[in-house]
Amino acid sequence: MKKLLYTVLCLSLLVFSCQKKDEKTDANKDGKKENSGTGGLVSKGKELFYQSSNLTGLKCADCHSDGSNNDKSNTKYFSDVIGASKRTSVYSGMITGDDVKRKGAGASVCWDTYLKMGRPVSQEEIDALNAYFESLGGEVKESKYTSIAIPTQNKSKLKDDQVKIASLTPDIVNGEKKFKETCGFCHGGKTVKHVPSLFEDFDGNLKSIVYHIRFGAKFMPFYSYEKLTDQDAADISEYILKNQKK
Ligand code: HEC
Ligand code: HEC
Repeated sequence: MKKLLYTVLCLSLLVFSCQKKDEKTDANKDGKKENSGTGGLVSKGKELFYQSSNLTGLKCADCHSDGSNNDKSNTKYFSDVIGASKRTSVYSGMITGDDVKRKGAGASVCWDTYLKMGRPVSQEEIDALNAYFESLGGEVKESKYTSIAIPTQNKSKLKDDQVKIASLTPDIVNGEKKFKETCGFCHGGKTVKHVPSLFEDFDGNLKSIVYHIRFGAKFMPFYSYEKLTDQDAADISEYILKNQKK
């Protein structure tokens, strides 16, 4: 009888300590989830989205909307990032299929081109940005923009555009509005570093302005036809050329 009681006691102790152990590992698992699981990735992604580059002073949120920064007029000229990693095609068709997720929906290109962080984006950062894009909610829309900047610069189309744009009648009021909304963000000489003034030392012409609008340069972005029309390009050029300090 004593032996039986002893065995029962031992067995129940064993069961009890096993249960305790299980509880403990579960707690650890949950604790870990908090740090490196979805929640942690999302906040890391948000941090990256709002982090300024030391070299250019630019951040993702300067050019793209996440739905909460629409008050910055410059973001109107580029795609939003809501659910971007779930799109089938991004960066004006340059990135498709499995590469969409792999390249953070195009974030890796922007990281190199506009932020110039001085090192490649890491897999963890890509995962964090994807998680952030997916956390933003709202419906996943494809951004369908037409550009002659990528995958290779279409120089002959640019030439045709330059001729056409020069023949349009410019509206300087619209030119000033569009310039202030988007170009002025960098060429206004405040937040963004290493940008030439277009009024003081630029002795270019309409052709050169149109070249920059359609192709971009260094860390200047290109603009699609949907975001800046040929008429807008004519209007902005007029505004810049009429305000040159000679
Ligand atoms: C100076 C402006 C600029 C900055 C800064 C910038 N991008 Fe971009 N981004 C662009 C341009 C231009 C495109 C291609 C045209 C478009 O999609 O509007 C683009 C495209 C994208 C796309 C593809 C969207 C689609 O559906 O086609 C994503 C996603 C994106 N950028 C994310 C980022 C992230 C994340 C950062 C920060 C690491 C960033 N970008 C920084 C200008 C910028
Ligand atoms: C994200 C910042 C940024 C934005 C926005 C931007 N630019 Fe630029 N822009 C630059 C940089 C940087 C350069 C210098 C490029 C180089 O050195 O090749 C430049 C150069 C230029 C030049 C050539 C200047 C020269 O002295 O040769 C023109 C013209 C120009 N931009 C026009 C525009 C227009 C028009 C817009 C708006 C539609 C615009 N930029 C928007 C950053 C920007």
